[in-house]
Amino acid sequence: MSILSATLSRVKPSPTIAVTTKAQELKAAGRDVIGLGAGEPDFDTPDHIKAAGIRAIEAGKTKYTAVDGIPELKAAICAKFKRDNGLDYVPAQVSVGTGGKQILYNALMATLNPGDEVVIPAPYWVSYPDMVLLAGGEPVIAPAGIESGFKLSPETLEEAITPKTKWFIFNSPSNPTGAGYTWDELKALTDVLMRHPHVWVMTDDMYEHLSYDGFEFCTPAQVEPALYDRTLTCNGVSKAYAMTGWRIGYAAGPQDLIGAMRKIQSQSTSNPCTISQWAAVEALNGSHDFIAANNAMFKRRRDLVVSMLSEIDGIECPTPNGAFYVYPSIAGLIGKTSKAGTLIDNDEAFATALLEETGVAVVFGAAFGLSPNFRVSYATSDEALKEACTRIQIFCAELR
Ligand SMILES: Cc1ncc(COP(=O)(O)O)c(C=O)c1O
Repeated sequence: MSILSATLSRVKPSPTIAVTTKAQELKAAGRDVIGLGAGEPDFDTPDHIKAAGIRAIEAGKTKYTAVDGIPELKAAICAKFKRDNGLDYVPAQVSVGTGGKQILYNALMATLNPGDEVVIPAPYWVSYPDMVLLAGGEPVIAPAGIESGFKLSPETLEEAITPKTKWFIFNSPSNPTGAGYTWDELKALTDVLMRHPHVWVMTDDMYEHLSYDGFEFCTPAQVEPALYDRTLTCNGVSKAYAMTGWRIGYAAGPQDLIGAMRKIQSQSTSNPCTISQWAAVEALNGSHDFIAANNAMFKRRRDLVVSMLSEIDGIECPTPNGAFYVYPSIAGLIGKTSKAGTLIDNDEAFATALLEETGVAVVFGAAFGLSPNFRVSYATSDEALKEACTRIQIFCAELR
């Protein structure tokens, strides 16, 4: 008899982490690998935030804290929601966890019963469906293809909702497509939700500050204030502040839900890292000037990648307005054979052959629920991006 639980057999390991691991292994074995798989900024945590972490250590702030966050961080989060999103929350409505990932996981664990459905637009961030499965729920995938700019239409949302729907998970700007919903596009979705009062909204605003070309970020409870009482607004410091390793994410929502999430956290991990919480206070309250400079760099890299990939026959690469990903379609390459003889019959075969034959690591679209595509993370140097895109161009030109 297996030691493993039946629940575990419902989920798969994170494919993005698998690609990063495989690329690291090849690198360690001496191969010339360019990793475009990782979902994290390539620059360092800003100095003033690091200094706050160091100050916390030196001041002995190294003990347990309240399970779901120190009062100073909860106050900074309330101020952030007011300042950036026009949303009023009090500290008792705020939960801080070990990364955005734990926050989303706690919320699903705290709310899902067997058979409960969660509507997830595809392409999606890899962890949503598996977290729903781990929590005993059923993911319901609502497709949002390249023709709609990878944005969910209100009609498709309406069709996906059933009496069993508990949550709608919303993510803008999106991982893996970079697509950001405008106010009107989001309003069209919240209008649908207003007709289904049993459906709650889990909005993952992780890429809020990473946007380009004047895109104006908005979040569901802001666009439709009547949804405030059934919305969990999730965010974190990982991406905009280059703090992926510090592991701080947070959410605000109805107090009962926040209390239930706290209960899960109190019996699993307890408080998120104390030192990181103090660094996050500085991240949220301190200067944000570096974000504009980082975004200018990301925009330049995005334009470079989009233009180089768009030159390839058989690849269609839309220009997204947020995050640090592009999600090109390879529909025009399916059925071809690589120089080394691999049949490209789907996007996984494409990504595998690309890594083995050129050393460029990307993540295949099937991992995100929409094929045939691949995800490029452009959070790496211009030189690496140029070299990687050149290799992709050559690889594709040699397909027969
Ligand atoms: C859309 C999205 N949500 C949440 C997360 C998790 O963030 P964290 O590193 O804070 O757990 C990520 C990280 O890749 C993400 O892309």
